[in-house]
Amino acid sequence: ASSNKFFVGGNWKCNGTKESITKLVSDLNDAKLEADVDVVVAPPFVYIDQVKNSLTDRIEIAAQNSWVGKGGAFTGEISVEQLKDIGCKWVVLGHSERRHVIGEDDQFIGKKAAYALSEGLGVIACIGEQLQEREAGKTFDVCFQQLKAYADAIPSWDNVVIAYEPVWAIGTGKVATPEQAQEVHAALRDWLKNSVSADVATKTRIIYGGSVNGSNCAELAKQEDIDGFLVGGASLKNTSYFNELVQV
Ligand code: G3P
Repeated sequence: ASSNKFFVGGNWKCNGTKESITKLVSDLNDAKLEADVDVVVAPPFVYIDQVKNSLTDRIEIAAQNSWVGKGGAFTGEISVEQLKDIGCKWVVLGHSERRHVIGEDDQFIGKKAAYALSEGLGVIACIGEQLQEREAGKTFDVCFQQLKAYADAIPSWDNVVIAYEPVWAIGTGKVATPEQAQEVHAALRDWLKNSVSADVATKTRIIYGGSVNGSNCAELAKQEDIDGFLVGGASLKNTSYFNELVQV
C-alpha cells in the first residue's frame, strides 16, 4: 500500500433481506476497525435507510448506482439528491455488472460521476478488463480507455477512489495474483501522472476488487499501489476481511 489512507468497501450488490442485513450490521458494529482505514458499505437501495439508522457512524454508506442528473421524471431511478438526503456519502459507478449486464457505456458513466461529484458525493469509480481482453493483451488499453472517460468528464479527482476490478476475478474465486493486480495499479497511477497530474497520481486511491477475502487480502495489501479493496461476496459472509486488514 502507498501512504494514502487505506479504503475498504463492501459491495453487497443485489443481496440481503431485512433480517440478514440486521445481522450483518450488528457484526459490523462489533468489529474492531483500525482508525486509519476508511470503511464503506454499499447496501441495496431499499435497505440503505435501515443500514443508516442502525450502523455505526464509523462506517460510511455508498449507493450502488445513481441517476445521471437531477431527479425528476425518470421512473425506476434514484437521484443523487435522494442519496444525500438519506445519508449516503459515496456512490459506486461503472461497476462491471452495470457495464456488461445492464449495458452502461463509458460516456454515460463519466456523466454520472461528474454529476455525483458536483453534488458532493464521493465516487468509487470502477474499471476493469474482461477475460478475453486480458487474453488478447488489451488489459491496459481497456483500463486506460475507461479511466480516460472519467478523466474527460470530471473536473477534479479529489473525491474519487478508483476501483480496479478485473471482470474475470469478480465472483469467480479467481483472485488476481498480487503481481497481476500491482502491475495494473502501477500502470493506472502512471496514466494519471501522464494524463492528469503527478499530484493526482500520488493522492488518488486505487483499490482492488475481485474475489478478495480474509485469506488473500494481506498479500494484496502489501503491494505498493494497492490502497484498499472493494469486496463483494466476502463482505456478506462475515467481517473477517476487515479483521485481517487491521493486521497489515
Ligand atoms: O464490487 C465488488 C466486486 O465486484 C467483487 O465481487 O464477490 O468477487 O468479491 P467479489
